[in-house]
Amino acid sequence: MEPLREVPQRVSENSPNLINNMDEYQDMYDTALANLDTFWLNETRQRITWKSPPTIGIEGSFLEVPEAPLKWFSDGKLNVTESCLDSNLENRGDKTAIIWEGDEPDDCREITYSELHDEVCKAANALKALNVGKGDRVIIYMGMVPEAAIAMLACARIGAVHSVVFGGFSAESLRDRVLDCHSKVIITQDEGLRGSRKIPLKQVCDEALEGEHPVEKVLVYRRTGGDVDWDDSRDVWWQEFVGEQSAVCPATICDAEDPLFILYTSGSTGKPKGLVHTCGGYITYTSYTHQTVFDLREDDVYACVADVGWITGHSYIVYGPLANGATSLMFESIPTYPDAGRYWDMVARHGITIFYTAPTAIRALAAQGDDFVKQHDRSSLRVLGTVGEPINPDAWNWYYDVVGEGRCNIVDTWWQTETGGICITPIASVTPTIGGSATLPMPGIVPLLNDSDGNELTGPSEGLLCIKHPWPGQARTVWGDHPRFVDTYFGMFPGLYFTGDGCRRDERGYYWITGRVDDVINVSGHRMGTAEFEAVLVSHDAVAEAGVVGFPHPIKGSGVYSYIVLQSGAEWNDNFSVELNLLCRKQIGAHAKIDLFQHVPGLPKTRSGKVMRRILRKVAEGEPDALGDISTLADPSVVEAIKEGAQAL
Ligand code: WT7
Repeated sequence: MEPLREVPQRVSENSPNLINNMDEYQDMYDTALANLDTFWLNETRQRITWKSPPTIGIEGSFLEVPEAPLKWFSDGKLNVTESCLDSNLENRGDKTAIIWEGDEPDDCREITYSELHDEVCKAANALKALNVGKGDRVIIYMGMVPEAAIAMLACARIGAVHSVVFGGFSAESLRDRVLDCHSKVIITQDEGLRGSRKIPLKQVCDEALEGEHPVEKVLVYRRTGGDVDWDDSRDVWWQEFVGEQSAVCPATICDAEDPLFILYTSGSTGKPKGLVHTCGGYITYTSYTHQTVFDLREDDVYACVADVGWITGHSYIVYGPLANGATSLMFESIPTYPDAGRYWDMVARHGITIFYTAPTAIRALAAQGDDFVKQHDRSSLRVLGTVGEPINPDAWNWYYDVVGEGRCNIVDTWWQTETGGICITPIASVTPTIGGSATLPMPGIVPLLNDSDGNELTGPSEGLLCIKHPWPGQARTVWGDHPRFVDTYFGMFPGLYFTGDGCRRDERGYYWITGRVDDVINVSGHRMGTAEFEAVLVSHDAVAEAGVVGFPHPIKGSGVYSYIVLQSGAEWNDNFSVELNLLCRKQIGAHAKIDLFQHVPGLPKTRSGKVMRRILRKVAEGEPDALGDISTLADPSVVEAIKEGAQAL
């Protein structure tokens, strides 16, 4: 591992950035903190198109969340698509809003703001014709085609609530989400396409809808033309139905606190939770952070290569960039198709200036060697971003030196599905960076480190990362389960938002995220709940008990390690791992894969029957001699067996 390296930011000339140097950062930070209401009201009034601008900032506090969700801008009325589309028509009508790069490098589309406006209006009218109204839920189960963004905005246009489900999720996962939010319509496509592999989205959708369900219509975008089953009474082709709609669709006026979307994420129980983001605060925060963090310029070609199925795609492919009138790229394929130079080939062909990806992709590409990068002209690049997990110094250095030719600013952005937008991050061309640190909080964000007893740590320290004051972009509740929202985020330390992450603060006040401290594993930047895996494993006839933990993985950040206790009479054989992974794939999705299986005689439990996960974690992390106090174990011999078995793996 190379030593840590400090890099001053390269200041670019003529930056319209709201923050141009560290003094201005400190000023803005102090101004925000002095009066959060005034700060955010000013921001939202300047950047967002309101039908009726708000006069109220925040209502409620973290202490009051158990009684009622927080509200921002509650007397304001708006439709977020007016900020993303209509407001750009006059000056940016012919500017490219979306550059789409399909699975094959020569399959590209460019959609201007005025075309996007029309397409969204047509799709919105189509949804209306399918009986979707304000407040109704629509599930979007698509790959990375522009129509996925159009579908999201079409829902927003009529005040319907979208819930995008990542195209890798299984029929069972899709079904769970359909039932949980009671969606009236699903928007999908015949097949997805990734690295020339076809993903049977419509077929999965059909399977998800076997049995009782609330879905009335399925709108199907034809992407590949592959064969699909068809139910005339339920299924509708996008091309035909949307194509014939009018391109005029007045925006439905919403309250600032009306839900904009639900996004499901894994937690520490088996059931995924649907985080609810609302209109006014979310669009304000994503617009503000996108412009500020990336030092956005009018002529930037901005590319975030995440999937719209995750929060990064919502906030930083669709809503933030469009609210800022940016040109935003959507990428359908994978970084290694047709070869590991795909990203950099794209940078050269589209003249990408800002590129945003995840550490796992950087590590995977770095492992393929520098030639794939150097073959392509990257002189257009100015800002490089990362998100999703801590970036190790080796990967940071490679991104900085090889990809960015030592010329670009790197922003390591820390945030979560729950936070809606970036919270701790360098500001491009301003904050001096140190590889591996997400550096400093955005204005309005006050991080705080607690020990596990709830004592606040001051100065350089390591503890549990909390945030002290509300900000407009944060999720308001869990769909249909406010008590769960309260428990998960405000139960640990009343009055503080608890992130679930561990974090260190250094001498200069920089933050270094150390990873999840709850039962969530961050695999390749995606959050997987250990309980979700465990529920799948024990559903196998031969499995009596299962314990799942993360372990350090060179590419994925964390890998998934499982301990399996078999039913008496069942015998372990190597086929089990294949079978159990098939089960994970079927019940969760294609991205849910267990890396290591260890057959154990029992799980380490306390006398009261609680599994001591700390022991499972330490053994999986390769530190079987650092188990700490194990005197409360019911049967210490189990630990010896686990240690021995781990060595043999
Ligand atoms: C978790 C949130 C936010 C979009 C992608 C993931 C980890 C995220 C960083 C970073 C270290 C990071 C945290 C966080 N994380 N960004 N820059 N450095 N860790 O969203 O699925 O909601 O996961 O990702 O552990 O809690 P998510």
